[in-house]
Amino acid sequence: MNQTAVQTKSMTASKSKTDTFYTDVIEGLRATPKRLQSKYFYDAAGDKIFQELMDCPEYYPTDCELDIFANKTHELAQAVIGDGDAFDLIELGAGDATKSSYLLRHLQQENVDFTYLPIDISTNTINYLTVKLPLAIPGLKMKGLNGEYFEMLKKAATISKRRKVVLFMGSNIGNMPVAEATTFCAEMRKHLSPGDMVLIGFDLKKNPKTILSAYSDSQGITKRFNLNLLTRINRELDANFNIDQFDHYAMYDPETGACKSYLTSLQDQLVNIGKETIRFIKDEYIYMEISQKFTVMQTDQMAANTGFKPANRLFDSKKWFVDTIWVAE
Ligand code: TRP
Repeated sequence: MNQTAVQTKSMTASKSKTDTFYTDVIEGLRATPKRLQSKYFYDAAGDKIFQELMDCPEYYPTDCELDIFANKTHELAQAVIGDGDAFDLIELGAGDATKSSYLLRHLQQENVDFTYLPIDISTNTINYLTVKLPLAIPGLKMKGLNGEYFEMLKKAATISKRRKVVLFMGSNIGNMPVAEATTFCAEMRKHLSPGDMVLIGFDLKKNPKTILSAYSDSQGITKRFNLNLLTRINRELDANFNIDQFDHYAMYDPETGACKSYLTSLQDQLVNIGKETIRFIKDEYIYMEISQKFTVMQTDQMAANTGFKPANRLFDSKKWFVDTIWVAE
């Protein structure tokens, strides 16, 4: 491709990204009840606020899973090594791989024959990992896969016939309602063969106050995180949300294990987004995000319903979080 063709192609790609964002936002805000998709939280500013959230004392999930990866590394490694045959270690949504690096380093030091295949939707993330990880973990064999989870899983299957171990960490599974999470696991199973493994991070049910504080922290970081999506819509989609006229509301239902985030409208107001106008009545809410909490039994049930057998469980020291290892049947 010549330079102009390259530019046109990338402009088309970025235009269609904006189009999808716009369509998703309008569709969500025209729906009853109104909703926005949490995948749009993570622009550059959102990434930064999320970092702050992870550092704040009330937000425990990241610390818990880090506790598992940093302090139960040997058990984790034994579980994924299984019978000892060579394997591909695939990570869905690798991010900066802080937690998984503990496992990678350990496997490398033990001379285990494996290749790390991080999958991420962000080109920046994949480029960063491709440069950083081999320096941090000398001898590491890796190949970054930039794209959607299932497309890249398909690609991973064409790269090698080796056994697959898929990491899906960070309680990302909880960001889908249970029915959708079940469909997701079943879909993942379709891309795997008997004997392949998945490691999934589930945030567990615990004292409801502990959970609620993690999603309505006292410094208001979660509030800023939610409002940042409105700021992003203002900037990228030519909208005029008045950020001061929205508040954040979080709730946790100990019966269902659903922890949800909402933004509420503090007054009757009209918001323009491009050519569209959206009406909010006072106290109307936008549903922003679910973070589902599980019992260990529910995780076993999900394995059984989606073609997996639970093989191993690793808990943090407080038993607030579990990384379950399932084997494909
Ligand atoms: N989705 C992550 C979680 O469930 C991050 C998160 C924390 C989040 N608080 C949030 C996302 C509030 C949206 C809104 O832990």
